[in-house]
Amino acid sequence: MGDLSTNSNSNNAENHLNLPKARFMDAIDIVQWEGFWFEPGLVQPAMTFRSIFQAANDDVILTSNMKTGTTWLKSLCLCILKNPKTDVDYDLLVKDNPHFHVPTIESTIYGTKPHIDLYKVPSPRLLHSHLPYIVLPDSIKNTDCKIVYIARNPKDTLISMWHFFNSILHPDQDPFPLENTVDCFLSGVHQYGPFFDHVLQYWLESQKNPQKILFLKYEELKRDPKGEVKKLAKFLGKPFASEEEIDKVLWRCSLERLKNLEVNKNGSTLFNVHNSLYFRKGVVGDWENYLTPEMEEKINQTNRIKLEEYGLFL
Ligand code: A3P
Repeated sequence: MGDLSTNSNSNNAENHLNLPKARFMDAIDIVQWEGFWFEPGLVQPAMTFRSIFQAANDDVILTSNMKTGTTWLKSLCLCILKNPKTDVDYDLLVKDNPHFHVPTIESTIYGTKPHIDLYKVPSPRLLHSHLPYIVLPDSIKNTDCKIVYIARNPKDTLISMWHFFNSILHPDQDPFPLENTVDCFLSGVHQYGPFFDHVLQYWLESQKNPQKILFLKYEELKRDPKGEVKKLAKFLGKPFASEEEIDKVLWRCSLERLKNLEVNKNGSTLFNVHNSLYFRKGVVGDWENYLTPEMEEKINQTNRIKLEEYGLFL
């Protein structure tokens, strides 16, 4: 995710809104707005985004929950849409982390310290949001701009999230217990949660309007990268001219390459989050190394209850 922790001390507006409050993993304050949980400092920017953002017909809005492959999707779309040149001197991914080039709107544009002027972003604008579909601005829903959502199976998402939050702990804090994280995740009390509602809203909208919303799955991208990236490029109106082009984009955006770029090994882009934290293992099924059979069953059961009747199982 491009945007965690860092707006939390930003403003007090949410205090005046009397929003329900909770603590994620007994440590991080979150508030509920429009049925979803957010870091307190993100609510006001999200409200502003919803009320004033004007989408352009050629905007591309990437959307995702946390730890579902946002960084990968941002990199792929950046190469396809904005930076097809592969020469290292021109490769934006070499210069900066993907989160710098594809800003997460609610935190970088409408936060208290905006990093980007939307009017200066060259068209077509490539932007991202972690917000659920329900709170996206009407202008995104009602113009011809396109939305790409990336979903990931809940067990790997949860493990990735758990690692991420543990990696940004203060030195004097104890690691978050996994059991507690599973409970928060399943009860929906986590950043941008409930996870299953977030996925479901985008899934249903993509079913209604497949020309507007492309619903991708992390696991499918891993299983058939060429096929999925071809589909993505076609959706964005930039179909590849050759197999070689696809291979190049996949290589440029591969975890191994991005992880080992100097800017991601040693830099930090936004919000003081070290770039290296966006890249870990990227393995489908890594959850097997952590979850007990009971935890696995609990998550599968929720997955079935929440998604199966809609033709989805992650
Ligand atoms: P793991 O923690 O399972 O390794 P997000 O970008 O939404 O924060 O998601 C982070 C997850 O995507 C992490 O998963 C990270 O390793 C993985 N990831 C980041 N860049 C990737 C890439 N280029 N290809 C595949 N996976 C990537």
